[in-house]
Amino acid sequence: MCGIFGITLEKRKPVGKLLTDALKHLEYRGYDSVGIAVTDGKKSFLRKGVGFVSDVALEKRFEELDGIAGIGHTRWATHGEVKEENAHPHQGCRDVLFVVHNGILENYLELRDFLIKRNHVFRSETDSEVIVHLVEEFGANEEGLKKVLSLLEGTYAFVVLTKDGTLLCARKGSPLVVGKFEEGVVVASDPIPILPYTKKILRLGEGEYCIAKGRKLLYRGSQQPKTVSWSERSAELGSFNHFMEKEIEEQPLVLKNLLAWLRDDSPDRILHGRIHLIGAGTSYHAALYGEYLLRKAGYDARAFIASEYTYWKGEDPDIVIAVSQSGETTDVLEALKDYEGEIIAITNNPLSSLASLSERVFLLNAGPELGVAATKTYTAQLTVLYYLTTGRIPENLPSLVYESLIRNKEAVKGVVEVLKDRSSVYYLGRGLNVVTAKEGALKIKEIAYIHAEAYPAGESKHGPIALVENGFPVVFVMPKDETYKDSLSNLEEMLARGAKGIVVGNEPPEQPVMFLSIPYTKDPRLNPIISVLPLQLLAYKLSVARGYNPDRPRNLAKSVTVK
Ligand code: G6P
Repeated sequence: MCGIFGITLEKRKPVGKLLTDALKHLEYRGYDSVGIAVTDGKKSFLRKGVGFVSDVALEKRFEELDGIAGIGHTRWATHGEVKEENAHPHQGCRDVLFVVHNGILENYLELRDFLIKRNHVFRSETDSEVIVHLVEEFGANEEGLKKVLSLLEGTYAFVVLTKDGTLLCARKGSPLVVGKFEEGVVVASDPIPILPYTKKILRLGEGEYCIAKGRKLLYRGSQQPKTVSWSERSAELGSFNHFMEKEIEEQPLVLKNLLAWLRDDSPDRILHGRIHLIGAGTSYHAALYGEYLLRKAGYDARAFIASEYTYWKGEDPDIVIAVSQSGETTDVLEALKDYEGEIIAITNNPLSSLASLSERVFLLNAGPELGVAATKTYTAQLTVLYYLTTGRIPENLPSLVYESLIRNKEAVKGVVEVLKDRSSVYYLGRGLNVVTAKEGALKIKEIAYIHAEAYPAGESKHGPIALVENGFPVVFVMPKDETYKDSLSNLEEMLARGAKGIVVGNEPPEQPVMFLSIPYTKDPRLNPIISVLPLQLLAYKLSVARGYNPDRPRNLAKSVTVK
């Protein structure tokens, strides 16, 4: 949700270009609008607009700006509609101070009234703008910043740029990370745009601030820098058309690396008592998978949608397994707010809020995932959950996933043709395959904008089947496991009503259906990690065939840091 980047340099450099490159790496966090502010020490420049980074940067000539410091922002609107005035950075009354902000200020109306009485003039409808006016009011220095922080209520990660090239940075609730390199200091909402500068990255603690100028960094907080192992190249597209395509294809390798990490781990007896699993979106599906495996293994486990957790949880469990790729999803962090028991995090971000509040962290080690729709982090999450439950390293998993990928790259094209012009589709399965059906349906909704509903196949005859008429597409996830025979009966029921059947399985059924083949595994608990591949490919190719950009689904953001 909203991407922030800031840089201070000892010597004048093409800051506009550096900011543009960084913002491209942050675009998955929001892409309603984009803007930068640059200073050369004497003059400052503000440029912003509505649209994607590359378009706005070109139109507003971001790259012609040189300077000694700058800030940039990609926006995912919360307060104020999507228009140029509401794009960040926001400036104070004069063109000497600028702010970029991520989060929601709860008392901004009050602060705005206070500032208007003090003759400040506002240009936008955003909550963020109050920050820059407050800094103007109380001083662009450490004392002023502390005063401003004492007045803000809500969540924020912000960076204020002054005309002399100083950055005032602070965070509460929303993430902000900082890195020092030979020629200066960089700050951002996540490690990815920092990687080209340094891999030693410090995450500001809750409520902390720092001030940077040139190569100097003033930080009085409690955190130590950590080394992030991701390579900066892993955030580049290479020969792929989209990040989602790249990330789907990376999965065999990601799982191979992950298994190597897990081999060095010792899961012995970390699970006990009552266990709750929480997650949002795709990560909730991983939580469901965890519930299924844990229950089968005899644990008392239950999965919850993170934003519903406090309503439904009942008594606190002994352990919460929190699943979140970013580790920053507000719904997940809020769910854990008053919880005092043990937390096990499954996340891709070692510097995340979730990682910092968990007793035990399982890192996905998947490298940055930039496609908004999660793919490689999902199969990595399932793999960690498999390992946590069984204590086993499924050595053959990467090759099974590779096989599933290879078999379906071309094969899904026929299904794309069938679904391309449809407005609705069902995804059905039984048992563990319900999880895959849900994930497949979510993917289609997210990036191909086709209404897709997942249902336990047996339950589909209690309602959903009423919508089925000639040609209505129904995807069945039915590998040869304990559910196969019963799923076959449900397939018959659908076909008898004219449905167009699409089966994901180990062998084609006798019925006239379209078939997507996945390799067989003796351990059916691995099926969801294998059978989701064709569904990811299907969603991706469908999105492209329908003329959309799968990396930038409308209204969505990769990391949702609001309630
Ligand atoms: C957003 C994304 C989803 C993602 C969910 C949870 O809604 O669009 O793709 O699954 O957040 O994200 P997390 O980082 O907590 O796994």
